[in-house]
Amino acid sequence: MKVAPSILAADFSCLAADVARVAPVADLLHVDCMDGHYVPNLTIGPPVVKALRKHTDLFLDCHLMVDNPHVLLAAFEDAGADGCTIHIELGDPRPLFDEIRQRGMRVGLSLEPQTPFVAVRPYLAEIDLLLVMSVHTGFGGQPFIPEVLDKVREARTVIDTEQLAVEIEIDGGIKVDNAHLAADAGVDILVSGTGIFGADDPVAAARKIREAGDRR
Ligand code: DX5
Ligand code: ZN
Repeated sequence: MKVAPSILAADFSCLAADVARVAPVADLLHVDCMDGHYVPNLTIGPPVVKALRKHTDLFLDCHLMVDNPHVLLAAFEDAGADGCTIHIELGDPRPLFDEIRQRGMRVGLSLEPQTPFVAVRPYLAEIDLLLVMSVHTGFGGQPFIPEVLDKVREARTVIDTEQLAVEIEIDGGIKVDNAHLAADAGVDILVSGTGIFGADDPVAAARKIREAGDRR
């Protein structure tokens, strides 16, 4: 099981230090980019990715909750992002997939809790990462929606049957006590924000989340 701390729950005033602290127990770093349009929240973007890039070698897994990813992709590439994940709810993702790949980044596709698996099914052979949202995008610290695990199981079946090179990542409300549910359903990567940075000991929390995910 891989663990991706979400820096949305870190202390932005000492981001590099917070990242350095969890780096030994992290496989990727999840970066939530929100534009105030796609979601009613405004967070961070390429300038912060660029600043972080100087402080970590971790895979910078950028989750784009923005209305128009196209206008930002050059900046994400320039900033040193490793992967960009876009939302299926924006419409035909293929032109964006092409652009993300041409820019040398890994391609991710995400779906909101209310969006059915069939919406992303046609694109599975074209992506590196399927990001299943287990909360409605916009804010950290929301409760996990267990019903999305059915979509994880559907995706797992297709990916295994067709032997696709796609990792399944789950994002939203992941804590030590529910990580095993995601693992059982077939998740490869657990994103956790408040579950890690909100804990008294973020390193121990990240370790426990991974262990819970490994115990399947
Ligand atoms: C929500 C973000 C999540 C969020 C997760 O829109 O995409 O990545 O940071 O935070 P927690 O783990 O606190 O639910
Ligand atoms: Zn996210």
